[in-house]
Amino acid sequence: MENLIQAIEQLKKEKNALIMGHYYQRSEIQDIADYIGDSLALAQQAAKTTADIIVMCGVHFMGETAKVLCPEKKVLVPDMAAGCSLADSCPADKFEQFVKEHPGYTVISYVNTTAAVKALTDVVVTSTNARQIVESFPKDEKIIFGPDRNLGSYINSVTGRNMLIWDGACHVHEQFSVEKMVEIKKQHPRAVILAHPECKSAVLKLADVVGSTAALLKYAVAHPEKEYIVATEAGILHEMRKKCPQTTFIPAPPMDSTCGCNECSFMRLNTLEKLYNCLKNETPEITVDFAIAEKAVRPIRRMLEISA
Ligand code: 13P
Repeated sequence: MENLIQAIEQLKKEKNALIMGHYYQRSEIQDIADYIGDSLALAQQAAKTTADIIVMCGVHFMGETAKVLCPEKKVLVPDMAAGCSLADSCPADKFEQFVKEHPGYTVISYVNTTAAVKALTDVVVTSTNARQIVESFPKDEKIIFGPDRNLGSYINSVTGRNMLIWDGACHVHEQFSVEKMVEIKKQHPRAVILAHPECKSAVLKLADVVGSTAALLKYAVAHPEKEYIVATEAGILHEMRKKCPQTTFIPAPPMDSTCGCNECSFMRLNTLEKLYNCLKNETPEITVDFAIAEKAVRPIRRMLEISA
């Protein structure tokens, strides 16, 4: 493993490459990345990098977002098969039909979508800025929100809006068991429950803090004396434990304990070996159809401007 890490570091320097990683990546990928962050931070970082090559250690839509923002750069992903169940739950042709059926609606899409869906969108959001961006529109604005039904319902509830919500979801965040979390809470009565807004409303009702991966991490870092039950993909625990080594973090369990599904199997497809090969061979490379990229870049840039 040491040799592999050295070889990656060497290639990275030779090729002026930037390795970015989401908090849901394997620990060893998070440790070697030049930059780790949530979906918003990764997009912000991609938009301003001077590197020639971006290696996006995350899932496919994150690579696409980087490519749309930096069409002149080479954007690589360690494993092209690293997809996203939430993005898959919103096929562009069906979403286009839905949008056409609702003329006069502003289209707000979560970043966990394909570039083709973003091309049909007025403004992109992430879990960090969804509330802020929705609230930047007048109260009576007619809004379509896609594709996450849990995040959409959560934003409706905290903003008093009535957005039309696409019926999509993340298979990992939908799996957390309220009953098991209540059991753990009985054993750790002082534990704070942290939950990502992609979780079902029953989990969010139980949570003390609801936020993006970056927001949950920030909360824990600000209150290291507490203990935590964490309802999001378990990869985030690596950075939480690194930043707060004395703190107890308990991953919220999924309903089916045999499936290991508080881990995203797509995120975990990226390995150090694949990262090395991808830097060495400069493949697999993300490409986005020019006509789609031209349209998709506008709602992403609009999001970055509002969040600046
Ligand atoms: P954030 O990165 O905004 O916390 O969202 C997590 C996620 O769903 C990534 O796919």
